[in-house]
Amino acid sequence: MTQTSYGLLKGKKGIIFGPLNEQSLGWKIALACHREGAELAISNVATALKMGNTAELARICGQAPLLVADATSDDELKALFAGLKTSLGEIDFIVHSVGMSANIRKKIPYESTNYIFYNKGLEISAISLHKIIRYALEAGVLKDNGSIVALSYIGAQRVFSQYNDMNDAKALLEAIARNFGSRLADRGIRVNTVSQSPTRTSAGSGISNFDAMYEYANLLAPLGNASGEECADYVVTLLSDLSRKVTMQNLYHDGGFSSVGISEKLLGLLERSQPEAGV
Ligand code: NAI
Repeated sequence: MTQTSYGLLKGKKGIIFGPLNEQSLGWKIALACHREGAELAISNVATALKMGNTAELARICGQAPLLVADATSDDELKALFAGLKTSLGEIDFIVHSVGMSANIRKKIPYESTNYIFYNKGLEISAISLHKIIRYALEAGVLKDNGSIVALSYIGAQRVFSQYNDMNDAKALLEAIARNFGSRLADRGIRVNTVSQSPTRTSAGSGISNFDAMYEYANLLAPLGNASGEECADYVVTLLSDLSRKVTMQNLYHDGGFSSVGISEKLLGLLERSQPEAGV
């Protein structure tokens, strides 16, 4: 992450859903927003606040209010936005950095998915974005000309076998972002998703063969995988006034991975692994 502050978020306020620990994308985004001058609130589900060290992040970010909510719970989100109005006031941005698949955690193959887990995964990883935006609007807490960003993955467009039902969840997440983007445009509010490279976090490492997926993406991407810190810097630009006409987009932040078929690096590796012809 760049150490320089450009003051891009000076005078802005926002809430970040999903920082768990130092590896979390949400954590790095919170630090970058704080560096750029934003006033923050931070939210996670109660169990995560016990497991992780989100309270420490809140302290680092200038004693940011820490608001507990399960992002699938209508009542808890309603209470969160009522509390946010009191603790922080009206906000300019929302970051959704929330995701979980119990099918992945329990290594249940897609073909024999557990539908309770499947529905829960969609609720947590995608429909929570709908609920967060809806209840922020109903509470009247979101200012005009604001920005909403959610974290996605290229599994929404292309099947990554080990990404299992999260491929589906990310497709729904991106669709919700577009749908809300069209509805909030008359208030100048943008809604986008950032499709990030594989990144070593708690959620990332829960995926089988994550290290192989990480290395594959790194070999293919001309610029190499984007780090969590670089993701945070990019998200800052989308929350800032420098991206006022960017909305309803899924923006790849992946070192060019999404535009490459095969790379010289990967070809070389595959060639070396072939048995020699005629031997
Ligand atoms: P993480 O595990 O640090 O963050 C996920 C967060 O979701 C955790 O803080 C967790 O407590 C929260 N969460 C789970 N259930 C919740 C609920 N019911 N209510 C509220 N919060 C809940 O992992 P990471 O990787 O930082 O994930 C953040 C986002 O980035 C996710 O949407 C993930 O899919 C996305 N992403 C991650 C990539 C990676 O390789 N790590 C790549 C591309 C996107």
